[in-house]
Amino acid sequence: MHKIAVIPGDGTGPEVTAEAVKVLKAAAAKFGFKVELTEFDFGGERYKRTGELLPDSAVEELRKFDAILLGAIGHPDVTPGILEKGILLKARFELDQYINLRPVKLFPGVQTPLKDKGPNDIDFVVIRENTGDAYTGAGGVSMKGTPQEVAVQTAIYNRFQVDRCLRYAFNYAQKYGRKSRGKAAKSTLALCGKTNVLTYIYDLWERAFHEMGQKEFPEIAREYYHVDATCMWFVKNPEWFDVVVTGNMFGDIITDLGAMIQGGMGIAAGGNINPEGVSMFEPIGGSAPKYTGQGVINPLAAVCAMQMMLATLGEDKAAGAVEDAVMFVTANKMKSLQAGRMGYSTSEVGDLIAERIA
Ligand code: IPM
Ligand code: MN
Repeated sequence: MHKIAVIPGDGTGPEVTAEAVKVLKAAAAKFGFKVELTEFDFGGERYKRTGELLPDSAVEELRKFDAILLGAIGHPDVTPGILEKGILLKARFELDQYINLRPVKLFPGVQTPLKDKGPNDIDFVVIRENTGDAYTGAGGVSMKGTPQEVAVQTAIYNRFQVDRCLRYAFNYAQKYGRKSRGKAAKSTLALCGKTNVLTYIYDLWERAFHEMGQKEFPEIAREYYHVDATCMWFVKNPEWFDVVVTGNMFGDIITDLGAMIQGGMGIAAGGNINPEGVSMFEPIGGSAPKYTGQGVINPLAAVCAMQMMLATLGEDKAAGAVEDAVMFVTANKMKSLQAGRMGYSTSEVGDLIAERIA
């Protein structure tokens, strides 16, 4: 029995989450496991109604689940930053979900904006550190609103944070990298940093990276790229990448680039993972307010997030079947991954995948 907390959230979040849940139930029936779903209404509407974001008591409650499935957080009537910090980032930080795992995989039949690149070229994973960097809230502002206003927002990393993220990344490369899939003689872990400017933070990352690699993972090939060059090569030579590890801020940015080359926000999913605790899975696109309630939004990203949840829960067969079903549907059914252009409604896409699994 897997106890799942479901937070549909704002905008199109509830619509895409419903399809992810539909597919989850189909997978549970097919593969003979049980799920118990508990829904929570955290998001912009609840905040507007009650002033409540993610209360501490809710965090304690969420700790008791095996996983969390999240739709989207973000509301056009709420000042940017309030819901993000108060709900999404609070959950990531309080539940110590120190890994943000973001696969960049081009499924068959999906259009990429990269000319002459196909599913064989675009198939890598970004492991984004998820607790440090400029995301900690360290800093402040003084003389606000005056011509002398000063703003400081500090990027922070300690060795412990860096090491635990790197260890996860090396282990991930060992288990799922190209070698394990018979696609290369060695699996490769690439560190994405900025050692030429952020000479404290990425020097720490780089030393820790090579020390750990040399001592504990000599069979994994190590590469280093500056973050600006990473953007260049994601576009020019995505086939170079296998597993990429980076800090929180760069990870945020390069995974949006990754999402675009894998076909857009309609398909991109991520997992906020605490390997020793409760993890939370989400489509990485936002709440898409302009498409809310029309049944035109693409639910595949939410389905893929749910698929990552199944893998993390140890339901490997079910996770494999969901991925196969999504690939079948992108290859043979959907006209496009863009909202309103799929050739199907949101719930019809969910039906196609659920039927394929059954
Ligand atoms: C993401 C989002 C969040 C982030 C925002 C909404 C706080 O962009 O999950 O990538 O920056 O981490
Ligand atoms: Mn982002």
